[in-house]
Amino acid sequence: MSRMMGDYRGKGLGLALKIANHRQLEPKGTDFTGLVSWVDRNDLAMRAINQQLGYQSLELCQIVEKQG
Ligand SMILES: CC(C)(COP(=O)(O)OP(=O)(O)OC[C@H]1O[C@@H](n2cnc3c(N)ncnc32)[C@H](O)[C@@H]1OP(=O)(O)O)[C@@H](O)C(=O)NCCC(=O)NCCS
Repeated sequence: MSRMMGDYRGKGLGLALKIANHRQLEPKGTDFTGLVSWVDRNDLAMRAINQQLGYQSLELCQIVEKQG
């Protein structure tokens, strides 16, 4: 999901977009039992949305980078 700009925030659009995304994934003859998503630990709005949709934290991962 790309970054939503200020005026559009707080209107439930993030939740609506993620639900629409889930609907696109509805199985068409495919059998799956779950979805995996990931989110920045500091992204509290997205974490709240994920929680509303029933996602449960599996683990916190850390991404590291070495420059140069
Ligand atoms: C994630 C994002 C798209 C959500 O936008 P949005 O739909 O306007 O989100 P909202 O402001 O409606 O917040 C969604 C929920 O999080 C809650 N929330 C928002 N900020 C919060 C905070 N700081 N702490 C706790 N909960 C928070 C809201 O209360 C809302 O829950 P509610 O419906 O029960 O009230 C937007 O915050 C964004 O663009 N973030 C930038 C980072 C990004 O793109 N993240 C996606 C990575 S996959």
